Amino acid sequence: HLARRTLTVAIGSLAATAMAFHAQAATEVNLGHTLSDSSHYSVGADAFKETLERLSDGEFTVTEHTSGSLGGERAMIEGLQIGTVDVVITSTGPLGNFVPETYVLDLPFLFEDYDQARCVLDGEIGNELLTKMSDHDLVGLAWSENGFRHMTNSLREINTPEDAEGLKVRTMENRVHQEAFRQLGASPTPMAFPELFTALQQGTVDGQENPITVIVATNFWEVQDHLSLTGHVYSPAAILGSPILLDGLSDEEREWFDQAAQAAAEATREEVSRLEEEGVALLREKGMTVNTDVDPAPFQEAVEPAYEIYTDEYGSEMLDRIRESD
Ligand code: PAF
Repeated sequence: HLARRTLTVAIGSLAATAMAFHAQAATEVNLGHTLSDSSHYSVGADAFKETLERLSDGEFTVTEHTSGSLGGERAMIEGLQIGTVDVVITSTGPLGNFVPETYVLDLPFLFEDYDQARCVLDGEIGNELLTKMSDHDLVGLAWSENGFRHMTNSLREINTPEDAEGLKVRTMENRVHQEAFRQLGASPTPMAFPELFTALQQGTVDGQENPITVIVATNFWEVQDHLSLTGHVYSPAAILGSPILLDGLSDEEREWFDQAAQAAAEATREEVSRLEEEGVALLREKGMTVNTDVDPAPFQEAVEPAYEIYTDEYGSEMLDRIRESD
């Protein structure tokens, strides 16, 4: 009897110790993005990790999952909604499928330059859009950056919209982008980013469009000969959280996440600016022809009908507010 009681007590105290240890154990935060470890997204992810771990004094540890190891951006956004991933850095490309209000940010030739885009996103409009995310089972933490998007392809230099005619171009899974490329006479092929390199290599598509940051981070010179700086759309990046983790946090803990996301966005924007300065020379060195002298006016005119897709469904109020912010 005595032996059995001693054993029961011992097991009980072991269980109590295990529970106490569990209560103190750090919470692992899984952060995902689709780009390589050397990318501007990883610069942001590192800043997020450093800031959150420092502010929380180790209560949270961040594990970074890069290069699409958790899937493409659409899949990761779904992961946030069901709690299989905690924080995601994503372009707005597929986000419109979840939060239609963000489609406005993907309209071609909407923003004039980086200053205007950053200013709109850091102001009232950006905050409103971040808040909207919570209506769709997502937490909007901060606006980060990917960069103005340009066209690359393996067939010819692109100087005018006519040069884009007939090209099979991979686009993001975004209706506004697809319509814009249709208007240019190209054949838009929506595809998740992790499939893109192989699709370019095998000639399933002739070209793609992404900012200099992504072209550099993904070694696209290995599979693409020509880059034209069309700067046709800004399409920001968003740092999003899962409501399943974030809604359960105290105000103080939530503030650490906000600050970590802010630090990530700042570090990423700095890296985007650096690559805007240095990236073209690097890509030329790697053998790409780079047309830096594209006249945007005929492109802008050609893609104008894509605006109807947006305004027919969502009206023009948000669009007008952004345009007035010039
Ligand atoms: O082309 C895309 O899908 C996006 O720009 C990328 C590269 C995943 C970054 O958000």
